Amino acid sequence: MAAPRRRIAIALCLALTGACRPPAPDPSAGDTRQAIALPPEARNAVLSEMRTMLGSLNGILTGLATRDTAAIHRAAAASGLAMAADPALEKLLPDQFLTWGVQTHRQFDDLAAAAASDITPDSVVARLSRITQLCVSCHATYRLTLR
Ligand code: HEC
Repeated sequence: MAAPRRRIAIALCLALTGACRPPAPDPSAGDTRQAIALPPEARNAVLSEMRTMLGSLNGILTGLATRDTAAIHRAAAASGLAMAADPALEKLLPDQFLTWGVQTHRQFDDLAAAAASDITPDSVVARLSRITQLCVSCHATYRLTLR
């Protein structure tokens, strides 16, 4: 009686400690984009900036749908160069990343300025096309990892 019980106990112990689990799959397997390894706070700062820009796109589209240029101005200004993450991050990011990042923030600033004066819906759409081209280029090139 003792031997089978011991075997069960050993099996249970291995299962609980994870010793017999298969290795965790690599979430970036097959992802050929260039990895940028950042400390957790820096990665969080970059991702938070990203979510702000997505919020701006949503705010601009909502303003466009309701023909509300003040809302377009506010939403675009929220992602202008002034909101760009901590300058200390610059040392951690590749040049091309910084170039695309600055261009994106500048285009949000330009759209905010244009919305403060006279702007047509068509020109907002054309500007959104140029802005999102930068989102697409950078996302196709880089991914973030932890260091
Ligand atoms: C300079 C490069 C760059 C630009 C420009 C850029 N992104 Fe990103 N973004 C990234 C990287 C890198 C990631 C992380 C992707 C990964 O690790 O798979 C990311 C992630 C994100 C995420 C996920 C955030 C999270 O919490 O996980 C969102 C949303 C996002 N970007 C939105 C945008 C939008 C919208 C734009 C354009 C207005 C934009 N990004 C422009 C580089 C960029």
